[in-house]
Amino acid sequence: MELRLKERLGRKFDEEIRFFKGWMDGPKSVGAICPTSSVTAKRMASVINPSSGLPVLELGPGTGVITKAILERGVAPENLVSIEFSTDFYQSLIKTYEGVHFINGDAFDLNKTLGDKNGVIFDSVISAIPLLSFPMERRIALIEDLLNRMPAGRPVIQITYGPISPVIAKPSSYKIKHFDFVVRNIPPAQLWVYTRG
Ligand SMILES: C[S@@+](CC[C@H](N)C(=O)[O-])C[C@H]1O[C@@H](n2cnc3c(N)ncnc32)[C@H](O)[C@@H]1O
Repeated sequence: MELRLKERLGRKFDEEIRFFKGWMDGPKSVGAICPTSSVTAKRMASVINPSSGLPVLELGPGTGVITKAILERGVAPENLVSIEFSTDFYQSLIKTYEGVHFINGDAFDLNKTLGDKNGVIFDSVISAIPLLSFPMERRIALIEDLLNRMPAGRPVIQITYGPISPVIAKPSSYKIKHFDFVVRNIPPAQLWVYTRG
């Protein structure tokens, strides 16, 4: 087998083992059974406007599949802020994606977690947080907090596995759009976009 293919398969296997360990430690906080597929990650990253000059905020990078797609979309590592709750995932991410501003903390407490990045305006938010593991009031509060940190019209994109939006409608505050259904993901993934008018 070609050496590069062997290395790639080895890396993929490492990612899956790491993901499985994370899942064993906290199935509710990981919220999925497999890492996100690269197809889904690319679809999520496609909402970024790399020429806006604004940084991108990622939530719940896990093994970094979506982080990789964000960087491949043309975002400079120093223009990506990424919040991961699990210290194990965080330790591995800082070694793999040099220059990205990873924060080991809670995405539901952004004022504290963002530290010196609090007050920054982001181009977009790419989120893999397992929202369904949290109460609805916290999901709504998170979406509203995220939208306050972006110019009007810019998106929060969220991955989920249920058939409906993980955040209920609140037309006075934000709009919801179904963005995609990605079959090439285990399990198949739904992508939702939240914006302010
Ligand atoms: C579905 S997994 C992400 C999968 C990731 N896309 C991958 O392929 O590895 C959800 C991630 O969100 C993280 N997470 C859960 N709750 C969080 C929170 N409150 N703040 C930040 N990250 C959180 C988990 O540790 C996990 O890495």
